[in-house]
Amino acid sequence: MVNKYENIFVLSGEDSLLCQSLSKRLHAPLISRPEIEKIKEGFFLAWQDGRLMLFDAGFPKKGLSVEFDARCTEQLSWPAPKNGPLAQAIGRKTQTVTDATAGWGQDCFHIFRMGYQVNCIERSKVIAELLRDGLFRLEQQFWMQQLKLKAPKLIVGNAIEILKSLDFTPDCIYLDPMFPPKRKKSALAKKAMVVLKDIVGNDDDRGELFASAWQATGRRVVVKSPDYAESIGGKPNESFAGKLVRYDVYLK
Ligand SMILES: C[S@@+](CC[C@H](N)C(=O)[O-])C[C@H]1O[C@@H](n2cnc3c(N)ncnc32)[C@H](O)[C@@H]1O
Repeated sequence: MVNKYENIFVLSGEDSLLCQSLSKRLHAPLISRPEIEKIKEGFFLAWQDGRLMLFDAGFPKKGLSVEFDARCTEQLSWPAPKNGPLAQAIGRKTQTVTDATAGWGQDCFHIFRMGYQVNCIERSKVIAELLRDGLFRLEQQFWMQQLKLKAPKLIVGNAIEILKSLDFTPDCIYLDPMFPPKRKKSALAKKAMVVLKDIVGNDDDRGELFASAWQATGRRVVVKSPDYAESIGGKPNESFAGKLVRYDVYLK
């Protein structure tokens, strides 16, 4: 089977300088539309409609990008109320959060929207490029500019190492590593997660990641897991159940 991650291409487009530097950063060949059409397995990145998008070469009609769209009513009420299991797990007294497994950035954005000070870490260079583009566009949004808000800062690399050399101590470190599915053929809910899994695989070093987070945090580590998965840090101090997921809280 082809390792899809190794089959990453950049589609040359109108923004040729952006495409060239992206291709260099990712060591991914820069190829033209007719060449892309011959590729049946793998992924390609392309600029489309003002955003960086990831396409599965097998289904090139619909691409994925990192989107941080707060609804109008939410924008007016920034910060959003700290409600729900994620907020309960992070805690009301927490001010700073490091999301060490940023992925598509959706949890990071949810945490940011509730008024926490957030930064995030992602080790997949491909996903990090999509995130960087999404965070850049977030900062251009009207409500962000009006409220003079800065988007969460992204650090690219392995959190196991990065957390050891942070120049500050976050109150909370948030982990949402990839878990193997319950059953071999279990349907993963969202296309974005299927693609993410194809690109990053299972995060089999989650035990090591937890150990590093535990050393680096000031107050707590929060781990999001599927409801069927074992806790990665042993018995948690508290657990909050969400829809098909669980937030385990480890207090220092
Ligand atoms: C399940 S996804 C996270 C989804 C994310 N919470 C969201 O809302 O979109 C897991 C992500 O964590 C990243 N990851 C896992 N272990 C990591 C590590 N040690 N350092 C940095 N990133 C890591 C993976 O590359 C993957 O993108």
